[in-house]
Amino acid sequence: MPGVLPEGEPVPADGSLPATATRAVGARGFGVYVHVPFCASRCGYCDFNTYTADELGGGASREGYADTVLAELALAARVLGDAPPPRVDTVFVGGGTPTLLPADDLARILDGIDRAWGLAADAEVTTEANPESVTPESLKTLRAAGYTRISLGMQSAAPGVLAILDRRHRAGRATEAAREARDAGFDHVNLDLIYGTPGESADDFAASLAQVVAAGVDHVSAYALIVEDGTRLAARMRRGELPYPSDDVAADRYLAAEAALDAAGFSWYEVSNWARTPAGRCRHNLLYWNGGDWWGLGPGAHSHVGGVRWWNVKHPAAYAKRLAAGESPGLAREVLTPDEAHTEDVMLRLRLASGLPLAVLDDAGRAGARRALADGLLDPAGYAAGAAVLTLRGRLLADAVVRDLLP
Ligand SMILES: C[S@@+](CC[C@H](N)C(=O)[O-])C[C@H]1O[C@@H](n2cnc3c(N)ncnc32)[C@H](O)[C@@H]1O
Ligand code: SF4
Repeated sequence: MPGVLPEGEPVPADGSLPATATRAVGARGFGVYVHVPFCASRCGYCDFNTYTADELGGGASREGYADTVLAELALAARVLGDAPPPRVDTVFVGGGTPTLLPADDLARILDGIDRAWGLAADAEVTTEANPESVTPESLKTLRAAGYTRISLGMQSAAPGVLAILDRRHRAGRATEAAREARDAGFDHVNLDLIYGTPGESADDFAASLAQVVAAGVDHVSAYALIVEDGTRLAARMRRGELPYPSDDVAADRYLAAEAALDAAGFSWYEVSNWARTPAGRCRHNLLYWNGGDWWGLGPGAHSHVGGVRWWNVKHPAAYAKRLAAGESPGLAREVLTPDEAHTEDVMLRLRLASGLPLAVLDDAGRAGARRALADGLLDPAGYAAGAAVLTLRGRLLADAVVRDLLP
């Protein structure tokens, strides 16, 4: 959830959608995202839409939050009343720190989603969690409530790196929490890593990868540190207190991640995501990347239904106020033009190991694909089978390949 929201046209007060959008809701799958905008403290690198107790001010509280989300869900069920999705395939509760809410509140939200639209029998239900904000008991409550997957923000195994990132958990706590999650009955557990933090050595990152592999999780996400404008980290770098991340170091770290994870039996399925088995891939994120429909509940949450994309007001107090008045919390929306939809499709699907069908490209895009193939950025076997599939070198240069495939 980026800090800056795009412009757009207003959302009607009742949240209604054009009939063209609701005609085939869920034809490519339907998911629900729930944003939980609370954190115990703000990590210096993070510009997500999240608030500490001090930042929150009046008009919104953690205590009333589950009910506010359920009010938006009731509105969503009314909006899709005549054309409900066939079922909910995936739920993803993200943040912020969802596990700052009591596990019972997370259970109540999931129950509300099931009542509104019906969870598929095999639905994937994920919550993000900060390692220090879960216990064996809370994990058992979440599992019993129907959550099937936990995604833990580990970031690093190195105490010095965790300190530069302002993380609250001690080194070792994330993998401990991952084991607790498995003991609580979660078959699907993810650990998030950040690489390229100033002060992180190659050995630090190798140790992070080794710990992730030893933790027995079935999914790993690894992201290069992004220095977001307006964050404390960006200010420290501007003042010269910390060096800016280096692209060469980030590339080395990515290659180290691929080597260690591949050796441990993980396969990449998206540039920043690896899973041990196909069943371990995050189906909710795959739904985003493959152009599915989802309703995003919560302040600042984005939704996409039938080519209409909208986003909610950002502040939790403004969000609660709209819903208390019986109005949609939608701030603005846009209908994707065919060109915009194509750009998005190329950007997202090229990053997948399954690749982008060459058939969706125009003549210029196909010429770009031939150049990328000749440069060793696309896989010859994938290309022969009709898809643009990035090679390892192509994954390092994915943004440049995207530019080559677009007009
Ligand atoms: C928004 S966080 C929510 C999860 C949870 N609050 C946590 O931090 O553990 C999701 C993930 O995004 C990644 N992330 C957030 N900001 C980032 C940044 N500036 N650069 C790279 N990765 C980032 C982190 O790996 C984090 O675990
Ligand atoms: S805990 Fe997660 S969401 Fe909260 S500030 Fe840190 S990175 Fe951002």
